[in-house]
Amino acid sequence: MIIIRDLKKQYPDTDRPVFDGFNLQVENGEFILLTGKSGSGKTTLIRMLLKEIEPDAGELIVGQYRLSEIPAGRIPFYRREIGVVFQDFRLFEDKTVYGNLELVMAMTGGRRRDAEKRITSILAMLGIDRLHKRYPRELSGGEQQKVCMARALINQPTLLLADEPTGNLDPASSAEIMRLMELVHRQGISVIMATHDLPTANSLIHSARRVDLDQTAPPSAAEGTGAAGRAVEGSAAGSADAPGTELSTMGNAAGSGIAGTAGTASAEGSGSTERPVSS
Ligand SMILES: Nc1ncnc2c1ncn2[C@@H]1O[C@H](COP(=O)(O)OP(=O)(O)OP(=O)(O)O)[C@@H](O)[C@H]1O
Ligand SMILES: [Mg+2]
Repeated sequence: MIIIRDLKKQYPDTDRPVFDGFNLQVENGEFILLTGKSGSGKTTLIRMLLKEIEPDAGELIVGQYRLSEIPAGRIPFYRREIGVVFQDFRLFEDKTVYGNLELVMAMTGGRRRDAEKRITSILAMLGIDRLHKRYPRELSGGEQQKVCMARALINQPTLLLADEPTGNLDPASSAEIMRLMELVHRQGISVIMATHDLPTANSLIHSARRVDLDQTAPPSAAEGTGAAGRAVEGSAAGSADAPGTELSTMGNAAGSGIAGTAGTASAEGSGSTERPVSS
């Protein structure tokens, strides 16, 4: 479960806050479509959930983690629990598809002997096993984004964050990525996806809940909607009927590997988070 309480964030040297008392609760296994006009704070929210940037005030709880209390040294372990997909792919150009995934597994402490099996099965699930020897430059944008989804899922996250994953894709590829998001969601993984392509998302992703940041924006940013501080409550209606509950156990310490597994990993370079969004 994710709980966001009274979140406030204003970037230095700007004249208004991005968030000024934002509330949101996301149940395990929910699919959230994060919408809002450019500048409404979608990327900012995703970066705060990754603990790449800090809020000015308020509380962010992801599973059993109160983000403000995670010591700096544990942040990479926290991030390892979360898969991330960006608009601009961020694959290693000098590595094949397989090599990209292998590297992430190695960097995040995955056992080597598990790697081949895991990579093969993820690529098959996403329908790109035939591409495993290709380099990113030999792939279409849609194919690259599928590889990014594989990378995000390789460490079996309970939560997938996607920041406009179809933003650079043509309509057909966008539809395919959305379908795969739905597939992932059906395995019980919670998904928060920022998108400008609501029609495609609505047509392909079932039981998603829309969270529109324009409706919850501070008054100045929302041009008078007066919705400052309004809670976006986690109505369970429309929440996933996700069957794979064993994958959606954030909040259940028994299912979480943060504290327990990753002793061999380098502190930096979780595949999901090594490139901060710079917007
Ligand atoms: N590092 C930063 N420094 C100052 N202002 C920033 C920074 N990052 C974002 N902002 C501002 O914060 C606001 C929210 O930006 P954010 O990138 O979260 O919006 P967004 O909803 O993701 O927009 P888009 O749909 O264009 O991706 C914008 O007004 C942006 O200019
Ligand atoms: Mg953005």
